[in-house]
Amino acid sequence: MPKHINVALDGPAGVGKSTTAKAVAKKLGLIYVDTGALYRAVGVCVLDRGGDTEKAEDVVPVLDGLKIEIRYIDGEQHVFANGRDVNGLIRTPAASKASSDVSKVPEVRAFLLETQREIARENDCIMDGRDIGTVILPDASAKFFLTADPAERARRRVAEMKEKGMDADFDTVFADMKARDLQDSTRAVAPLRPAPDAVLVDSTHMSLEEVVDTICRMIKPSVN
Ligand code: DC
Repeated sequence: MPKHINVALDGPAGVGKSTTAKAVAKKLGLIYVDTGALYRAVGVCVLDRGGDTEKAEDVVPVLDGLKIEIRYIDGEQHVFANGRDVNGLIRTPAASKASSDVSKVPEVRAFLLETQREIARENDCIMDGRDIGTVILPDASAKFFLTADPAERARRRVAEMKEKGMDADFDTVFADMKARDLQDSTRAVAPLRPAPDAVLVDSTHMSLEEVVDTICRMIKPSVN
């Protein structure tokens, strides 16, 4: 079977990975896979059981018998945990913190690895996350690492939350983001960092269209 087009898009929180990846997916006819949603779903399951997401001994037992799946409903990714659609629960600030906590646990990363690789094996896709280019898809057709100044990222996240009708205060979002950046990039397992062969795209002063065009232009030769 021919190898599918697999695009890796990594970068820190709030840089616009999902908006960018969705737009690229639409332009090039790829499936968009948001891998952060998988970590969020695990985090929500730990919280559901009353566990402390900072304690690996509370996190690891939750994986036992847990089934995390991605399904597409009207073209939109939904994450299911043991058959329950948890999409409505995974975007809260508590879920963001929980996802970053559980993503440090090696057992969680190992647990979600095959789910991600299987999707890539079976689909032309653009996958966004933190370790897609470095760990999940080292042989991806194209790899990008998207960055932007932390203050700009916090501003974008606040705008996105307000658009969704959520309460958002810049200082809180900025502080949470910096804490998450630090935790995600300094963890022992699969820390956030660009793959050596990733193209770095600094979007601080770029519009979404410019970022999407830059990425699409670089992927196109492998799509056609
Ligand atoms: O992309 P996001 O903000 O939804 O991700 C939530 C958390 O999950 C993030 O703090 C780090 C973690 N994560 C990860 O470790 N590896 C990934 N591929 C995706 C997300």
